[in-house]
Amino acid sequence: MMDELILAIETSCDETAAAVIKNGREIVSNVVSSQIESHKRFGGVVPEVASRHHVEQMTLVLEEALAQAGLEPSDLTAVAVTEGPGLVGALLIGVNAAKAFAFAHGLPLVPVHHIAGHIYANRLLTEMEFPLLTLIVSGGHTELVYMKEHGSYEVIGETRDDAAGEAYDKVARTLNMPYPGGPHIDRLAQEGEPVIDLPRSWLEPGSYDFSFSGLKSAVINTVHNATQRGETIKPEDLAASFQASVVEVLVEKTFRAAQEYGVKQVLLAGGVAANKGLRAGLEARFAGSQYELIIPPLSLCTDNAAMIGAAASIEYKKGKRADLALNGVPGLDL
Ligand code: KG4
Ligand code: ZN
Repeated sequence: MMDELILAIETSCDETAAAVIKNGREIVSNVVSSQIESHKRFGGVVPEVASRHHVEQMTLVLEEALAQAGLEPSDLTAVAVTEGPGLVGALLIGVNAAKAFAFAHGLPLVPVHHIAGHIYANRLLTEMEFPLLTLIVSGGHTELVYMKEHGSYEVIGETRDDAAGEAYDKVARTLNMPYPGGPHIDRLAQEGEPVIDLPRSWLEPGSYDFSFSGLKSAVINTVHNATQRGETIKPEDLAASFQASVVEVLVEKTFRAAQEYGVKQVLLAGGVAANKGLRAGLEARFAGSQYELIIPPLSLCTDNAAMIGAAASIEYKKGKRADLALNGVPGLDL
């Protein structure tokens, strides 16, 4: 049988990415151009800056992905692209590149949900066993997604305000750290002790939703009150205390969901998967349990197009296609 070769494109936020995936599981090429340096001085991702970068980088990244794979367009089976969610101007660059490429080369076009991509990053490492649960934690998302089979997604919990990475970045800003602040807080947290009492947002009993804005306010108030009283708080203790609160809630809700839904595997996705505290917390909680915990390498946890190609393979086999009217959908449902 002929190999299935999917060219995938991802531009939902601040990475311009293209990849070629063979038979849904094998990375043939994987090119990511990050814009983080351009957004740093603004303290966050500026949508207009992101769009302009995507325009500059898209063709180069696409050509690089094909060149690294040593493939011609005529070797490809299909073109896949992130349809949403994400920044609309950013999404549109990828969607239009994919449409143009598909039209020019007579290839089928497969639209992919960004979160499905994050989940399917795992299939580039290991075979997925159902039912399974994925915790997605990034600058834009905090979600628990249950899957009973390929291509079937049930969001059982999500954040009601800030995403986990966003909370990290906002707290980091309070402590005068550069953007993105997550890695800085994580590093600082390793040097401190979680001695400062901060809230845990469990929400209603049984809820798998998350909320981080109250915690963020509690951190800001702690700093403010200490300053007013002329006291000093050790930043490393504050970082460790904040991290302890975030990690405890993420880990505990994930574990409870794994139990309630009786899953076989638990997957981690998104940029916050880099967090040492979260990794250690999940590993400790799941050690010796019946649930297999899978934490992919960081390059597959952060935004990339390889994951979009992996998810697209399933959608392609199910017959999902888009025509040239495909649009970027910022609030696309999973
Ligand atoms: O998935 P990602 O690269 O981009 C999107 O959000 O789409 O995630 C970036 C987020 C940022 O908020 C960043 O601060 C956070 O992940 N992050 C971390 C760590 N490394 C990155 N947060 C906590 N601890 C880390 N080690
Ligand atoms: Zn993402």
